[in-house]
Amino acid sequence: MEMSGFSTAIPLAYLASAVLFILGIKRLSHPDTAAGGNRLAAIGMLLAVIATLLESGLEYTWIIAGVAIGGLIGGVMARTVKMTAMPEMVAVFNGFGGAASGLVAVGEYLRVAGGAGGETLAIDSGVSIMAGTLIGAVTFSGSMIAFGKLQGFVTGNAISNPLVKFSAGLLLGVAVVLAVYLVGFESNLVFYWSLIAAALILGVLFVIPIGGADMPVVVALLNSYSGLAAASAGFVLGNNALIISGALVGASGLILTGIMCRAMNRSLANVLFSAFGTGSATAGRAADGDRVATPIEAEDSAMVLGYASQVIFVPGYGLAVAQAQHRVRELADLLTERGVSVRYCVHPVAGRMPGHMNVLLAEANVPYEQLCEPEDVNPDMENIDVAVVVGANDVVNPLARDDPSSPIGGMPIIETDRAKTCIVIKRSLSVGYAGIDNPLFYLRNNRMFFGDASDALARITEEVKQL
Ligand code: TAP
Repeated sequence: MEMSGFSTAIPLAYLASAVLFILGIKRLSHPDTAAGGNRLAAIGMLLAVIATLLESGLEYTWIIAGVAIGGLIGGVMARTVKMTAMPEMVAVFNGFGGAASGLVAVGEYLRVAGGAGGETLAIDSGVSIMAGTLIGAVTFSGSMIAFGKLQGFVTGNAISNPLVKFSAGLLLGVAVVLAVYLVGFESNLVFYWSLIAAALILGVLFVIPIGGADMPVVVALLNSYSGLAAASAGFVLGNNALIISGALVGASGLILTGIMCRAMNRSLANVLFSAFGTGSATAGRAADGDRVATPIEAEDSAMVLGYASQVIFVPGYGLAVAQAQHRVRELADLLTERGVSVRYCVHPVAGRMPGHMNVLLAEANVPYEQLCEPEDVNPDMENIDVAVVVGANDVVNPLARDDPSSPIGGMPIIETDRAKTCIVIKRSLSVGYAGIDNPLFYLRNNRMFFGDASDALARITEEVKQL
C-alpha cells in the first residue's frame, strides 16, 4: 500500500473501531442483542489492534507472544471462573487495565525525562503522563484491595477510622503537588517515583475503609477509573482509538455506578465514606427472639404452587451459589404447562454484580418476556398467589421500606411480604450481605423452605409432577 493511502487507512480503521465500540455498547442494553454487541466490540478492538501494529511498524514477535500468552490466560480464566466469583475477576481485570495504562505513562516519562538532567515535559503530554500515572496506580492498588475483600484475603469490614480518610486526603494533596511540580518546573526521577508510591498507597486507603458489601459499587467505579487511565494513555501515545475507548469505559463505568447507587437508594458519597456494613456482615443466625418462622416441605410447596394462578420467582445471591438457574426454569416450565402464569422478578442489585441474575437466567434460557422488575409487580403484589424467593434476602427485606433507620432503609425492594403466600428457599435464617435480620421470615403468610436452592427446587419439581 502507498504511504498516503496507508496514512488515510489507519485513521479510518480507528474511526470504524470507535463506531463498532459504540454500536456494541448500544446493543448490550438488551439481552436479545447483547451477545452480538459483545462480538461487534471485539471486532472493533481487533481492528484497532491491527491498525496500531501497522501504524507503529513495531517488531511483532514480542507482541504476538504477549497476545498469545495473555489470550490463553484470559480464555482459561473466563471459561473456568464461577459465576459467583465474577466480581473478583472484574476487579482483577480493572486493576490490570489500570496498571497497563499507568505503565504506558511511566514508559513515556522515562523516555522523555529519564536520567539526570532529563528534558522538562511539554504541558500537554506532561498532564497526560501525570494523569495516566496517578489514575493508573490508584486503579491498580484499589482494585487489588477490592479483589482481596471479595475473596476474603482482606477484611470485609468497613473501617470508620477518620485517620484513614485524613491520610488519603493528605496523600492526594502530595501526589497533586508532585505532579504539578514535575510538569510545571523540572523533571526529577525521585519525585516521580514518590508520586507513583503515593498513588499506590492512595488506592489502598481509598478502598480499605469501604465494607465488603459495597465492593461491587467500588469495582464499577474503579472500572470507570481504568477507562480514564486508558484515555490518558491514549493522549500520551496520540492514539485516538484508545482515547475514545477509554472515554467510553470511563463514562459507562460512572453511569453503572450511579445506577447501582440508585438501586440501593444511596448516594455515591454514602457508599464511599459511610462505613456501611461495619461488623457482622456475614454473621450467622439471625436474632429470632420469640418469633417463629414456619417451615414448609416439598409436598406442600408443590400443592400451593401447582394450584396457583399467578406465581413470581425472586432470584437472589443464593441462586448463584447453588447454581440453581436450570432448576428454577424447570419448575417454572412445569407450572406454565399446568396453566400457571409465571414471571421472574429481578431486583437490580440482587446477587453480587450488576446483571448477575439476568446473566444466570439467560444461561438457563428463561424467556425474556417472563422477566420483570420490582415496579412491574409491586403495585399488583396482593394478587400474586405465591412469591418464591430463591436464595434472596436483602432485596425482599421489608425493613428497607418500613424502617428508614435500618442500614438498607429506603432501598427499593420486591415486596413479597404482600403476596398471598411467600415461600423463601434458603439454608437457614442467616442474614444476607447487609448483615441484618429479615422480618419477612416470621410473617404469617410466609413459609421457610430450608435447604440448598438447587436441591429444594428439584424436590418441589418432583412433587409437582405427582400432582
Ligand atoms: P443476600 O441478601 O446477600 O442474601 C443471599 C442469601 O442467599 C443468604 O441469606 C443465604 O442464606 C442464601 N444462600 C446462600 N447460599 C445458598 C444456597 N446454596 N441455597 C440457598 N440459599 C443460599 O442476597 P440478595 O437478596 O441477592 O441481595 C444482594 C445484596 O448484595 C444486597 O444487600 C445488595 O445491596 C448487595 N449488593 C449487590 C450489588 C449488585 S450489583 N448485585 C452491589 C452492591 C451490593 P443462607 O445462608 O441461610 O442459605
